[in-house]
Amino acid sequence: MTNSFSFRLHATDGRARRGEITMPRGTVRTPAFMPVGTAGTVKAMYLSQVRELGADIILGNVYHLMLRPGAERVARLGGLHDFARWPHPILTDSGGFQVMSLAELRKLDEKGVTFRSHVDGSVHSLTPERSIEIQGLLDSDIQMQLDECIRLPAERAEIERAMELSLRWAERCKIAFGDQPGKAMFGIVQGGDLIDLRIRSAERLAAMDLKGYALGGLAVGEPQDVMLATLDETVPVLPQEKPRYLMGVGTPDDIIKSVARGIDMFDCVMPTRAGRHGLAYTRRGKINLKNSRHAEDHRPLDEESGCPAARDYSRAYLHHLVRSGESLGGMLLTWNNLAYYQDLMAGIRAAIEAARFDDFHAEVSEAWAKGDM
Ligand code: GUN
Repeated sequence: MTNSFSFRLHATDGRARRGEITMPRGTVRTPAFMPVGTAGTVKAMYLSQVRELGADIILGNVYHLMLRPGAERVARLGGLHDFARWPHPILTDSGGFQVMSLAELRKLDEKGVTFRSHVDGSVHSLTPERSIEIQGLLDSDIQMQLDECIRLPAERAEIERAMELSLRWAERCKIAFGDQPGKAMFGIVQGGDLIDLRIRSAERLAAMDLKGYALGGLAVGEPQDVMLATLDETVPVLPQEKPRYLMGVGTPDDIIKSVARGIDMFDCVMPTRAGRHGLAYTRRGKINLKNSRHAEDHRPLDEESGCPAARDYSRAYLHHLVRSGESLGGMLLTWNNLAYYQDLMAGIRAAIEAARFDDFHAEVSEAWAKGDM
């Protein structure tokens, strides 16, 4: 067992990379999809199931956990891994993004952000130093800098202000994090849809010699080609030998196209949230189980899947569960969706190793295009 944090590239195919992040709690095979466990739970799943599907790492959120049950309480209870019964690596998001999307009465200045909790209306503040302190109390393995992500479209001056603020906060987070050999603190590239600002942000973060780099402020409502063009220009500015994480992305199509542009890590609520809303991801595209055309369909979601949720239950039964608002419907569809996402990542990794990523990409896209019926 290692006591340091390291990243090693095993193979590349075009810009796509197959690597491994090694840290004391385990190894993350990249490209990796990190299921979102916002409040210390991947909603509607046992973490043992999440593990069995092939997840090496899950994500937790400072924002939610600081409000409930509280970071100091989690620390007293032995840290997030023990609390949630997930002994493997955890990445935590720093809170800034969730404050902007969930909290009320936000006030942001150079020092940090003050906000009113969406849970009980209490007032809290988050500075770069406090975010790192909280991530330490949670005992997170990969910690994210506090940043400011702004919604697009926005004026250049506003995008630049938030990007520069995020760079200053990265410096403060780096100092607050200090030297922790088995853990990492990642910087977050901002700059909206403006390539020159993205490049400046990536260059300045690269110069800080952090252990990994994320791209933030994407998949926030811009068209996919804008996101992909941003990756085309920004990813090459980041150091080859460090992991690259595209935050909050995305659909299976976003993921495979971003891997093609050199991204190593992803997280998204899509498979879990969509599952709870009656939507299944499969090899042949998405299936909306709410639709009455499934009411007497005996077929499973995917007879060839290794996941019992995909293979052993009829679409008619899933339709019935979803229509009846039964918890099991969301549980089975979440299970199916996370299985699909992890199988996709395993396929991507194998294809890069075999130097056939482009062919794999074409095959996957063709199966989606063929559809289900
Ligand atoms: N999750 C999705 N996008 C972002 C972002 O820009 N910053 C942070 N901290 N988290 C995110």
